Amino acid sequence: MSIDNLAPKHKSTLHDREWEWEGDLLIKSRELVSEGVVVLTLTDPAGAGLPEWSPGAHIDLLLSDGLIRQYSLCGDIHDRRSYRIGVLLDPGSRGGSQFVHDKLQAGGTVRVRGPRNHFRLIEAPEYLFIAGGIGITPMLPMIAAAQAAGANWRLFYGGRTRDSMAFRDELSVYGDRVSIFPQDEVGRIPLISVLSEARDDVLLYVCGPEPLLDAVETGAAHWPADSLHTERFAAKPVDAPADALESFEVVCQRSGISLSVGPDQSILHAVEKAGLKVLASCRAGVCGTCEVDILEGKADHRDTVLSRAERESNEFMLVCCSRSLSPKLVLDI
Ligand code: FES
Repeated sequence: MSIDNLAPKHKSTLHDREWEWEGDLLIKSRELVSEGVVVLTLTDPAGAGLPEWSPGAHIDLLLSDGLIRQYSLCGDIHDRRSYRIGVLLDPGSRGGSQFVHDKLQAGGTVRVRGPRNHFRLIEAPEYLFIAGGIGITPMLPMIAAAQAAGANWRLFYGGRTRDSMAFRDELSVYGDRVSIFPQDEVGRIPLISVLSEARDDVLLYVCGPEPLLDAVETGAAHWPADSLHTERFAAKPVDAPADALESFEVVCQRSGISLSVGPDQSILHAVEKAGLKVLASCRAGVCGTCEVDILEGKADHRDTVLSRAERESNEFMLVCCSRSLSPKLVLDI
């Protein structure tokens, strides 16, 4: 199997925190591909190449007045001249998807940052992809990479109705590797049977709404640790551990500044208040932008991005939500 575009096992999912590309991209095309889903194709206005990315990556759209949203790249990783994203109009939109649907039109521009990947496709002989609704977007390049690598794979794709399920035509070329579950016709994805046999040679990749992710986490509880890879749309409540500290000291090693972080404050907030800069986007532990290296001390991880192995490595943390289990935490800031 070729491992082109797949991350080797145990490779860190870190993005390059020292540098992130940012620029205005032209909206080359805008297409309504299913009920409530628009697909935007973005290119450099002068036709220049764009930063490369890998399956599972997302970009930030910097929309207006600090409104930043993340969208998975769902195009061809070999196409270095355009990015493709699919955006579902969320009826409960807090402004992001509404803005994209109402204001972003073909011929206009949009500010883009990234790409960044914390949902990497790790090399494996077999994959089980499970997508709910717009959660299909990161699966498209993953499936293309798995197919190109000669891996075995299956996709279980659920949605409200057939018409609401984007990219069905594109997926039809894969034949019976793809199983579609429009809920109003056939009900939900039968997770109990799909996940019944725990396999140590299969990786599970899941993206979709919270109830689907919760159901897969429960249904795959008997699978080997680190089989399951999820991407969430929203932060999952994370309980504080029994040994959580209310307050602690953060040493920003590169800047030579020490800070005290209180109970109602995030590390990111304290760092910004001290005039230091750490890249941040969602500020809720979902996007992975604010990752920094831990030089000393022990993190109290509260994000919904890092895998169990990454948490246990104690090598890096997301400072918008995570805290410290040691009185002093030394960070590479
Ligand atoms: S800013 Fe998104 S995880 Fe911290």
